[in-house]
Amino acid sequence: MDISHLLTPHSQQMESSLVRELLHYSQQSDILSLAGGLPDEAVMPAYPALNLLNDSRQYGASEGEGSLRKSIVSILAERGLVSSADNILVTNGSQQGLDLISRLILDSDSTILTEQPTYLAACQVFKLQGAHVQDVVSDEQGMCITALREAIDKYQPKAVYLIPNFQNPAGHCYSLERRKQIAALLDEKDILLIEDDPYRDLCYENVDLTPITTLIKSAPWLYMGSFSKVLWPGLRVGYTVSCGAFTPHLTKIKQAADLHTNRLGQNMIEYFLESGQYPEHVKKLRVVYKEKCDRMTGALNKYLNGVVEFTPPTGGMFFWVKLPEGVSSMLVLDEALKEKILVLPGVPFFPCKNPLEDSYLRLSFARVSPAEIDRAISILSSVIRRLMP
Ligand SMILES: Cc1ncc(COP(=O)(O)O)c(C=O)c1O
Repeated sequence: MDISHLLTPHSQQMESSLVRELLHYSQQSDILSLAGGLPDEAVMPAYPALNLLNDSRQYGASEGEGSLRKSIVSILAERGLVSSADNILVTNGSQQGLDLISRLILDSDSTILTEQPTYLAACQVFKLQGAHVQDVVSDEQGMCITALREAIDKYQPKAVYLIPNFQNPAGHCYSLERRKQIAALLDEKDILLIEDDPYRDLCYENVDLTPITTLIKSAPWLYMGSFSKVLWPGLRVGYTVSCGAFTPHLTKIKQAADLHTNRLGQNMIEYFLESGQYPEHVKKLRVVYKEKCDRMTGALNKYLNGVVEFTPPTGGMFFWVKLPEGVSSMLVLDEALKEKILVLPGVPFFPCKNPLEDSYLRLSFARVSPAEIDRAISILSSVIRRLMP
């Protein structure tokens, strides 16, 4: 049945997410997947028993559970971000935060600036609003400041979207100097910052994690966090905190979207935070993921030394690996799959056409064991070497 006449132009143009399309492969037991940004079930705590939780059977507040919002205020305070529960909106994962913000501020007359490369599902929601998504050259310390200034002057964007800590997909973590420069520039130009920070607790080295939001003096800002990468992504609980002016507008959009985030999930997260187990849990996550991260560095050095380029990340889940010249990431995906290894090509992470878009792989070490990392990279090495001109 042809239903295309029923779809809006923006829905018709919407590209599906390659990551989600590939997800079904990662669920096949014979496939070793380095593709998804999925945390390891082995380090997820068991759900708390239902009888320990607050009652969640009735409809709840659109803003989220009051007790959880207070706990989020404390979490943010530890990051130096002073807020109040009134300015916190609990969302269905931080992905919903991106959607609600986009609905609030973006339309087909808007431009939003992103890093290059950036989180592809953010671009999906920005584009669904019809916005022009413009990427800005980024290096290992984050978005380049001169390029950002030029892009602001050229495109007069509504907002800048940044993932400063252990970025998806490039893995980079902004230096404090870069954070300060960006905050100062956004203040100078009075541009909205959308800061997305789901990976910050997965930190394996002593790096600066100051939210750029806290360095901003006058520009508007929105900051998003998530429990997906550190607790249970299946519960879909994240949050958006905003400088006060956005709060009533975001709440109305949340009401229209889904009334409120599911209360059972919120109460489970809240119980875990309140029980005092969270700091120990994060310590454990860091040990487990750091070992895997080091193992991937070791495997890449062992099997692909001098063939690919990469910088070991200081946190998060991802290696951003540059393939040798002439090797297509899409071909690597196809050929590696024949050998039961799933990798993610870099192509969909570039919002704008880029001559290098087919030259990268994003490899996640989070959900595979250290031994599997070694095996996967050794197979990947033979695939890449075979494809070299
Ligand atoms: C940068 C970034 N933002 C947001 C999300 C969405 O996370 P959530 O599960 O909280 O919706 C992800 C998930 O991979 C992500 O990488």
